[in-house]
Amino acid sequence: MAIHPDPALHCLLVTLCSLKPRLFPLLPFLLWTLLSCDLRGAAQGPGEWTPWGSWSRCSSSCGRGVSVRRRQCVRLPGEELCWGDSHEYRVCQLPDCPPGTTPFRDLQCSLYNGHPVLDTQKTYQWVPFHGAPNVCDLNCLAEGHAFYHSFGRVLDGTPCTPGTQGLCVAGRCLSAGCDGILGSGTLEDRCGLCGGANDSCLFVQRVFRDAGDCPILTHHQRLRNTVERGVPLTSLAPGSQGSC
Ligand SMILES: *[C@@H]1O[C@H](CO)[C@@H](O)[C@H](O)[C@H]1NC(C)=O
Repeated sequence: MAIHPDPALHCLLVTLCSLKPRLFPLLPFLLWTLLSCDLRGAAQGPGEWTPWGSWSRCSSSCGRGVSVRRRQCVRLPGEELCWGDSHEYRVCQLPDCPPGTTPFRDLQCSLYNGHPVLDTQKTYQWVPFHGAPNVCDLNCLAEGHAFYHSFGRVLDGTPCTPGTQGLCVAGRCLSAGCDGILGSGTLEDRCGLCGGANDSCLFVQRVFRDAGDCPILTHHQRLRNTVERGVPLTSLAPGSQGSC
């Protein structure tokens, strides 16, 4: 990329060079130049992100996988990097894989079967090895031998360990927030709203107070109960038995 001279700086330098021999008497003029060169307009601060691109296809053809979208940082000369991530990953859930489908990690290990991957010409059959430190490395055990080999990172969307929710993305094990975005850390608030600020709860305590048989529920469960049954709140009389 070409380096463009900062226009404000260029303007200032040209003025200074032309005035050098007579600099001192011209101090007021110099000050005026400084201001009119619009130094405030010089680029500073972070650049700006383009809008997000569209989500990619799911990394898997069945079951859970990841989908990615990207954005680019647009920077003027002198601007800093944009804040935030250039990639965002979300979980995609396709219909379950048919029984007997080779798990994604097993498949990746098995790609090295029969190939001389180490220094010797010997070949091995490779199966996943789950005892190595980084779960997002493709650690494969040479079947019938007492060693494993790490073939670098697993592909994005590989489960970190069998039977858990985390997925590997760029070599890191991430779990999805309630917004489905991997690594977002977004949680449901106490009103059951994803990423909420605990301020959307409806308090319907009075409606249920005298209902003798009702189990004791939390506010949130009460709300859910009422909403799920589609009973308008105003039609419930205190003590009405049909609402449990
Ligand atoms: C909502 O309430 C929970 C539990 O009371 C608390 O841990 C959390 O920080 C609150 N969230 C916000 C956004 O205030």
